[in-house]
Amino acid sequence: MVLISSHKTWPFLSWAILVAQLLCMARADVHFYDFILKETSVTKLCETKSIMTVNDSFPGPTIEVQKGDTVFVNVHNHGDYGVTLHWHGVKQPRNPWSDGPEFITQCVIGPGTNFTYEVIFSDEEGTLWWHAHSDWTRATIHGAIVISPELGKSYPFPEPDDDKVIMIAAWYTGDLKELVDEAMKDGTDLPHSDGYAINGELGDFCTCSQETTHHWYVDYGKTYLLRIVNAVMNAELFFAIADHNLTVVGMDGGYVKPIVTTYIMISPGQTMDVLLTANQPLGRYYIATRQYSSEDAEVTGFDHSIGSAILQYRGNYSLPSPPVFPNATLPLYLDFGAALRFTNQLRSLASEDHPVDVPGDVSTKMFITVSMGEIYCPNSSCTSVSGNKLGSSLNNVSWVNPSLDVLSAYYRNLSGSYTADFPDWPPSMYNFTGDDLPDSVDMTYQGTKVKVLNYNETVEIVFQGTNVLKGSMNHPMHLHGHNFYVVGTGHGNFDSKMDPRTYNLVDPPHVNTFGVPKNGWLAVRFTANNPGVWFWHCHLDRHMSWGMDTAFIVKDGGTLETSLRPPPAHMPPCMDMGSYDISMQTSSIDHVEMQQL
Ligand code: C2O
Ligand code: CU
Repeated sequence: MVLISSHKTWPFLSWAILVAQLLCMARADVHFYDFILKETSVTKLCETKSIMTVNDSFPGPTIEVQKGDTVFVNVHNHGDYGVTLHWHGVKQPRNPWSDGPEFITQCVIGPGTNFTYEVIFSDEEGTLWWHAHSDWTRATIHGAIVISPELGKSYPFPEPDDDKVIMIAAWYTGDLKELVDEAMKDGTDLPHSDGYAINGELGDFCTCSQETTHHWYVDYGKTYLLRIVNAVMNAELFFAIADHNLTVVGMDGGYVKPIVTTYIMISPGQTMDVLLTANQPLGRYYIATRQYSSEDAEVTGFDHSIGSAILQYRGNYSLPSPPVFPNATLPLYLDFGAALRFTNQLRSLASEDHPVDVPGDVSTKMFITVSMGEIYCPNSSCTSVSGNKLGSSLNNVSWVNPSLDVLSAYYRNLSGSYTADFPDWPPSMYNFTGDDLPDSVDMTYQGTKVKVLNYNETVEIVFQGTNVLKGSMNHPMHLHGHNFYVVGTGHGNFDSKMDPRTYNLVDPPHVNTFGVPKNGWLAVRFTANNPGVWFWHCHLDRHMSWGMDTAFIVKDGGTLETSLRPPPAHMPPCMDMGSYDISMQTSSIDHVEMQQL
């Protein structure tokens, strides 16, 4: 290499800069994956049926990257219906075009077509996951994302000997799509699962499942990094491994202060990185999970099954049978205290290498009720709850999907898809967590209302759970495009004078999904520094389907680097784009309007 310079030190400097640049480039790798969506025949719980999978596998393939890499995933839909994919917890700076939620950032990839997602990693490190984000297809279309530290960097804990992904999914008998479509039409309760699968297998405690129980072989003395994903549709989970301690070191693609525990409680959408040292007598130990149900048992039933796998030590010894079960450590279904004791321990690492940046001053404050409710059904034609439909809502607005995705409508300045008037407050104040709430608070409005934020606005949201329809329970709220700090949480109604004094602004967990506790509140803060359209919703799919969703539009910041990227050449087309002709600047859908009773 010849570098011409009149100054003696320049050649070396330029060369050093060039080498540094090359090193940087080498660090941010680009990976390519092909995902073939197709129907695959699977037998579980004594029933053979067809499910949609990626590359014939359930769970789907694991994506492996280093921090800061970019991944192109070409999705070929060989199935019978349209699907979108979402990269849960990947912030995708400036690139909501590849975020995936149907009707929010794109329309479906139709059967016989393909679409390439560009998944841009930035500060994420640890474990995340990907899943379908259209209807309930994510039940079987999901997989893990493993993000290693960048080259030359290491974990903030001793290097584990090996890694192990644990994907927990819900299994449904029958045709789930049909069941969901029907229940949504009738406004009745949505299906409950029939089992919990660990890495695709329901385990020893389910019928017709013992032959295929997932086994994980370990060596005595080694330490493993478990990457646990709750990919379940509607259930928070307790999880334990018999006789082994778990050390939680990461969550949602970031690090936390180590928590040594005998069990975890993990909500749908969340991921946890857990160290396990194989230091027990050679033998077999159950890895077990069961639902943590925070709902009143009389209100609705739940799946009582136990999902299990087996941790088995390698070596020459006679197998004691059966494996040890975590009887003493796996909490029972309704153990509210156990769930709280675990989640209350979560703290960001907040170290020099992994600092926190909690917004101190807040420019936008929102107070949002998170609620069950009813949606008016004309002539009492629906079959549930006094002739109305079940609904759920944020500030009494129950989200309705537009037919043109919000992102396209925003980018192309088309009206009729959404309105920008998501309220900062509920329409009325009442004793949200009261025991016998008046019928007058049951009804929710329908709308496609989003909240618009300026670039770099600092946002505080207090989510207030309600007991409307005696339906109080935990709601794991999930935000796309950003992580948020969990600065406070508590029982009962939020007290705007006293409760902020208890906020943790020092080392709050920095996550993408966190539960609003049953009959309680959750305060989160984040900086809106990612221009685009970002969905946020309860990660219980029954609540998401019923409308516990909305979106943020984060405006451009005035420079190229702070602005939304242009769309890729070909986004999947939306069905009735005709009605969104540029010439049509007035609302063309009546369901967008508030529908008061
Ligand atoms: Cu994991 Cu909007 O989803
Ligand atoms: Cu919910």
